[in-house]
Amino acid sequence: MKRDPLVMIPGPTPVDESVLRAMSVQTYGHTYGGFVNIYKECLAGLKTIFNADHAIAIGGAGTLSMEMGLVNIAKPGDKVLMISQGYFGDRYPLIAKALGIEADVISAEAGQRVCLHEVEAKLKANNYAAMTLTHVDTSSGTLADLAGVSALAKKYDVLFILDGVCASAAIDEDTKKYRIDVIVTTCQKAFAVPPGMSILAVSDREIRRREELGDIRAFYADWKNWLPIMGNPGLYFATPPVNHVVALNVSIASVLEEGLPARYARHEKIGKSFRAGVAALGLEPVTASEALAPTLTVIKYPEGIDDAEFRAKIEDNGIFCAGGVGALKGKVFRVGHMGSTGWPELARTMTAIELTLAQMGYKVTPGAGTGAMEQEWIK
Ligand SMILES: Cc1ncc(COP(=O)(O)O)c(C=O)c1O
Repeated sequence: MKRDPLVMIPGPTPVDESVLRAMSVQTYGHTYGGFVNIYKECLAGLKTIFNADHAIAIGGAGTLSMEMGLVNIAKPGDKVLMISQGYFGDRYPLIAKALGIEADVISAEAGQRVCLHEVEAKLKANNYAAMTLTHVDTSSGTLADLAGVSALAKKYDVLFILDGVCASAAIDEDTKKYRIDVIVTTCQKAFAVPPGMSILAVSDREIRRREELGDIRAFYADWKNWLPIMGNPGLYFATPPVNHVVALNVSIASVLEEGLPARYARHEKIGKSFRAGVAALGLEPVTASEALAPTLTVIKYPEGIDDAEFRAKIEDNGIFCAGGVGALKGKVFRVGHMGSTGWPELARTMTAIELTLAQMGYKVTPGAGTGAMEQEWIK
């Protein structure tokens, strides 16, 4: 019997049984007291995770969060500094264009971080309404220098938007520590909830900016319409994704039960262990060593291994992994390792990588990757 492969792409990620069960409860009325309490708990949990002044969780996707973040901070004609370290960093200028906002983009080659001196020079010479950064670019596996960039945002007193989609709940995104004004994120990666929600954390400073903007070109995405509901979810603006909120609340409870420092350390360990296995197979990440993300690994294909054939074969071997996007299309495969992923998923994935490469004629010592990964894991 053919079983569905294990989902090891960088989102959506495998969903825990407890979250799936929560998702399948009979749908509550969205203003029913029992549900209102769950929604309140969910938002309070998000505020704790991000150490944030305000949290928003509504129906949508990460891209809607990105759009909301921008449209509530800048008006048409404003200039925003956008730092891009890959395909998702490149998405922000596209959103800016749709909103009539001018994007000043600093880009880095795939797998590299942008140069902080370049960022500082731009900030010194221009007056920006805001600055954007992708915490982990899911295309290149690049983990941004959040501390370095956020120190510059503070020094030049510019409002700071962080795309946390491939990092939130796996890597520290304390809004006070890093002086982040808006985190734009979603639920299907390290929160390990089925896709369907836009999640944001917003600072009081940003709310003051939103007040100054007056009317904006948005309705559903205008958080002036949402903030009263987030304060009291018994009120109505637009129907929330009730079952998703219940499921997200279960996920958030498990994040808080694990504890944030322990959870961040677990993701570090998972990333390091997986990459020890990758190296033992003679494979290499595309990402610079100082920018390797704990949440995913983007691996270069060795000479002679075809992308489509590799991914079809590894799927037959029980693992669904992602190909490259943007400039890396056809050159890499991507493995997500975040959320509820642990040793069993890593072991299945590494074994399947070994087997698939061997079937394609690449020289592999059976068990080399899994063994190296295990050695790192038990350290
Ligand atoms: C870093 C990053 N930002 C934004 C997005 C867009 O999120 P969504 O696909 O939920 O719209 C993604 C999606 O993978 C992402 O990885």
